Amino acid sequence: MFEKPDELREIFQKRLETIAALSDIEELRIEYLGKKGYVSSLMQELRSLSPEDKKAAGQRINEVKQFIEGTIADKLVELKAKEEQKLIDSAESYDESMPFSADIGSYHPITLVRREVEDIFTSMGFTVEDYSEITDDYNCFEALNIPPHHPARDMQDTYYLSSDQLLKTHTSAAQNTILRKYKDSLENGNPIRAIFPGRCFRNEKIDACHENTFFQMEGIMVDKDISISNLIYFMKTMLSEVFQKDVTVRLRPGFFPFVEPGFELDIQCLICGGEGCSSCKDSGWLELCPCGMIHPNVLTAAGIDPEKYTGFAFGLGMTRLAMMRYGIKDIRVFNSGDLKALSQFTDKSFVRPE
Ligand code: PHE
Repeated sequence: MFEKPDELREIFQKRLETIAALSDIEELRIEYLGKKGYVSSLMQELRSLSPEDKKAAGQRINEVKQFIEGTIADKLVELKAKEEQKLIDSAESYDESMPFSADIGSYHPITLVRREVEDIFTSMGFTVEDYSEITDDYNCFEALNIPPHHPARDMQDTYYLSSDQLLKTHTSAAQNTILRKYKDSLENGNPIRAIFPGRCFRNEKIDACHENTFFQMEGIMVDKDISISNLIYFMKTMLSEVFQKDVTVRLRPGFFPFVEPGFELDIQCLICGGEGCSSCKDSGWLELCPCGMIHPNVLTAAGIDPEKYTGFAFGLGMTRLAMMRYGIKDIRVFNSGDLKALSQFTDKSFVRPE
């Protein structure tokens, strides 16, 4: 009987005990499994055996080979985990009781603009609503008067998840939910005034002014006798507060199935002053806030009687607003993780009240 495979297994097991570091593993592998290693020299010895013995011995060598391969793989996992743990243990611990320092960290420019706009709208009686980034076809499209196969869907291709869910393409996806949430209170005489900021996703070709992940802030107001003048008033107030000066705006007709009439509210590009640059695609204007009067079908879908109530909706492009506010020329900066670019807008002189 050809004993050598069993002997090799024993020698290997002893040798394994001497391995303590990840860096030793490769040497061990070459020693046993390499071209000139123990396993292949055993294979060569097979030649000298009789054909009957060859088969049985070959099988046993293979078993030992598999055993060595498996053991080395397990050892690799074990040592990796040990080294990671060592790194964790040696990491500097941090002191939770350290006093807050305004010098450490900064807010993302989107957070800064979002808070500013939230403050302005809450001061005008709006509530701030939260809404999920994952939604479904009904909320994102159908409840907004965009039935399946409607051409308006082509503008808003998104990322579909399994289980019929999708990543929301616009903050309008929350309209139905928010309208439903407040419709009873509306019946009791309280107008619906809500904003809902959120991250949106679209399958976009990325360039200086398009991103697949961006922020909008939706706003709705519903009551008896709400008209376009209310909409224009709120938009102008908000923009002049954000920019602390009068901004030039223009209204163009715009088509969105969930508003009628619908508009595009553009602001004159504040980066180039209207002369044309890469941020405004050389047009001097930036589409900032599509808006309009809520379509009767959208109110009906939420259980609100469109004969009794009217309302406006707007979808403020918050990422665009942040670009204008801070003079950021390339939209890709926002998701870049480039701390040098992103950290410069937090006012470090601001001291948080205790
Ligand atoms: N949801 C629309 C979009 O993202 C914008 C919009 C909101 C238009 C509200 C009208 C009213 O394209």
